[in-house]
Amino acid sequence: MRLPVLVLLLACNPAAPSKDEPGGTDAGDTGTLPAPEACGYTAAEDLDPADDVVEVDLRASSYAWDPGTGVPLEAGLAFDEQVPGPLLEATRGDTLRVNFTNDTDLELTIHWHGLRVSPEMDGVMQMMDPVQPGETFTYELALQDSGYYWYHPHMSGDTVLERGLYGNIIVREPGEGRADCELPLVLDDVLLDEDTWQIEPPDTDMMQLMGRLGNKLLANGRTDRRIAVTKGQTLLLRLVNSANARFWDLRLEGHTMKVVATDGGFVAEPWEVDHLLLVPGERYVVAVEATGEPGEEYRLLNARFQLHDEHESDMVEVDPMGDGENPVLSLVYGDGSVEGTPWVQPTPDVPAWDRAADAFGHQWVLQEDMMGGTVTLDGETWPDVPMVSVAGNTDTTFEVFNDSEMHHPFHIHGNRFQIVAIDGVAPTTPVGWKDTWDVAPQSTVTVVSALDNPGEWMVHCHILEHAEDGMAGLMTVEP
Ligand code: C2O
Ligand code: CU
Repeated sequence: MRLPVLVLLLACNPAAPSKDEPGGTDAGDTGTLPAPEACGYTAAEDLDPADDVVEVDLRASSYAWDPGTGVPLEAGLAFDEQVPGPLLEATRGDTLRVNFTNDTDLELTIHWHGLRVSPEMDGVMQMMDPVQPGETFTYELALQDSGYYWYHPHMSGDTVLERGLYGNIIVREPGEGRADCELPLVLDDVLLDEDTWQIEPPDTDMMQLMGRLGNKLLANGRTDRRIAVTKGQTLLLRLVNSANARFWDLRLEGHTMKVVATDGGFVAEPWEVDHLLLVPGERYVVAVEATGEPGEEYRLLNARFQLHDEHESDMVEVDPMGDGENPVLSLVYGDGSVEGTPWVQPTPDVPAWDRAADAFGHQWVLQEDMMGGTVTLDGETWPDVPMVSVAGNTDTTFEVFNDSEMHHPFHIHGNRFQIVAIDGVAPTTPVGWKDTWDVAPQSTVTVVSALDNPGEWMVHCHILEHAEDGMAGLMTVEP
């Protein structure tokens, strides 16, 4: 029964790695290593003099950016002609005002992924008219939570994110300390034609169903980032996964990563990992002690992650990156060493969940019909998925049951959640605020929320092809 799927996969994947590419493994890369760039970032300019308002202009337009192949992408799009778009930085309690101008020829909205904003500012089509080409719309966001967030259009997500429309947001705790070297990193992949190095049109049904995996891995929009660090520094890597479907399984050669924050802010108790799973839409912030020696270079590596459960072994999934590990970027140690500033974990704005919920909200069921080529939420596809209605300001439990053979990263807008159980068992890592999480095949993730942000909110799979295909619904949180 599954054999046709296997055949389709092999036949339809345009980017199955070819063994005899001219130019060897570097084909499509410029070949020469770029000089290491300084660790750090520049935030978008704040146009408002008030202390508690950050105002920025943000303009989306066509922009042929070079992902590191040496060939600019003709279909490229960008915010302010940079990929990722400008980093928006503010402090919890601030208002973030974004004057968004749409200079593309597409209708667009911007969604502020993870921020608990008001429904009409959430950038989804149920709540606002799309911003038409040539128009400007001002988003006004009251920042309730510190954390690491990101922004992206919420229309045609499967194509416009691929083309470059995404950026990140840092909301700091008042008085939050700085690491010696802070590196916000948006991890993405793109699927490029290996002759032209242009974006492949995502036009196959199978790619829609499987999620589109790229054949180039991008850190902040480039295949070839090298970051200068110094022995002794404390590094803070802020990671967001903006890829359509890729689950990153990351490790940093020669270093241990310590998780200090989840999607919605700092955790009470950091924990060490030797590798880190980052699913589409999800964020983690990790602290790293720079213990290397001058002249050494260490790579952030991504291992292949199988989206499908292969227990029915005739199910074959092809990753255009191949089966092994691939470099994402590298840390290059410069001369000398410094007395680093030890990382001081900020006190999280809200402690971990420690109480029983008062209500059971809903169980969402994720399914897919490989033969029929559809993914569904509660047995239907958008916009036919039944609305879920729950009482607000009530501690509420939800379940997400993945009744399929493929991982789905589940995302809920508007409120924040903590994972309290996976298949009935409490997670082993300390909890933190989440808005996006993996739901493994045939497994159930139980989450709780205080539902203190009423409104009508989208819930969907963050494999962008699945969201576009209808694995999406709405939840009304009553005031
Ligand atoms: Cu990042 Cu509804 O999405
Ligand atoms: Cu999905």
